[in-house]
Amino acid sequence: MMNFNEPINRLHTDNVKWDTMEQTYCEKDLLPMWIADMDFMTCPAIIEGIQREVAHGVFGYKNPSARLRETIADWQESMHSYRPAVDSIVFSPAVVPSICTAIQAYTNEGDAVLIHDPVYTPFAESIENNRRKLVRSALVSVNHHYKINFEDVERKMMENDIKLYIFCNPHNPCGRVWKAEELQKVGELCQKYGVLLVSDEIHQDIVFAPNKFTSMLNTGKDFSAFTVVFTAPTKTFNLAGTKVSYAFIENAVLRARFVEVQTRNCGAELNSFGLTAAEVALKEGKSWLDELLTYFEQNFDIVEEYVATSLPKVNFNRPEGTYLAWLDFNAYDLTDKEIMNILVHEGKVVLNAGIDYGENGAKFFRMNIATTKANVEEGLNRIKKALAIINSKHAITK
Ligand SMILES: Cc1ncc(COP(=O)(O)O)c(C=O)c1O
Repeated sequence: MMNFNEPINRLHTDNVKWDTMEQTYCEKDLLPMWIADMDFMTCPAIIEGIQREVAHGVFGYKNPSARLRETIADWQESMHSYRPAVDSIVFSPAVVPSICTAIQAYTNEGDAVLIHDPVYTPFAESIENNRRKLVRSALVSVNHHYKINFEDVERKMMENDIKLYIFCNPHNPCGRVWKAEELQKVGELCQKYGVLLVSDEIHQDIVFAPNKFTSMLNTGKDFSAFTVVFTAPTKTFNLAGTKVSYAFIENAVLRARFVEVQTRNCGAELNSFGLTAAEVALKEGKSWLDELLTYFEQNFDIVEEYVATSLPKVNFNRPEGTYLAWLDFNAYDLTDKEIMNILVHEGKVVLNAGIDYGENGAKFFRMNIATTKANVEEGLNRIKKALAIINSKHAITK
């Protein structure tokens, strides 16, 4: 049994989540509940695998093995009921670089690329950094359950001559795990308008029953001619620093174009520890992951209960997947910046501002619950403390 309650001091390890906050916010003793990594040790078998490699002491260049390809295919098959062809797997150090590679490989400067609003911030950044035209389709929230507005997606495809659609499943930050019927509609629209589809499926393994993850390559309809999937074991097993990810590109022409651009940028070499970690994780990590998902569910129970009883003006709808709570602060008559400042400087807690994921994320804040229960409770107490100050200021001004 893993003990996810054990606190691990991450301060002064040069990590982004804990060690950058003081400089960013000029504030001490902040509790980080932002960027999507976990405060947990990874699965012990992975640590042992990396330790064996360290003991060998030779850290030269390394290739992904045929064994690793088979292991990835096995994982996809046993976890997600489809088996990518091993030849379709293309390795990349991380998903965001793959998104940039796809943008460069499949579009030209000035071409329009579609994403949702809100969605993971680097989608928009990658499109704009590569001088493509950013087009967004707002997700629609019905009782805090997000849906795709398919009429809007279709209109945007027609009006903007969209070349590429970058899709997120499970969805960060809203936590939706899109259903096969929804994915079929996405695929059918791409087919109808000749749009290439990139599906970022990095959160595929963090899904809570009864929800079930369906890959864009496994919807019951065959979209493989124009679909590229990116995924990785790095969210699942907390390995983001080891730099390992992969694409499934069934269409040989699309695969060759992707590899050509990746090669041009010398972007295909991976960290040897990442390759080792991935193989051990996918072979031996399933029971660790099961325990982790149970712990996440308990953390979401805590958030749900706390918000209902102690944060009555905040809205929270449990996510279907991801370890990210999407909290709605729209009841407060303050700007995003004002809320953020109060959370940071009064509550001393750092969440991600929803506005960074698109305008449609305004007044939402994303809370990362991949930490100890004690930290989740402390984070919620800090939010409460910050909001109490808003409430009392509000009372005074009234
Ligand atoms: C949807 C999504 N894609 C990609 C990433 C980052 O992946 P990588 O570290 O492999 O670039 C994240 C990290 O939070 C994410 O949420």
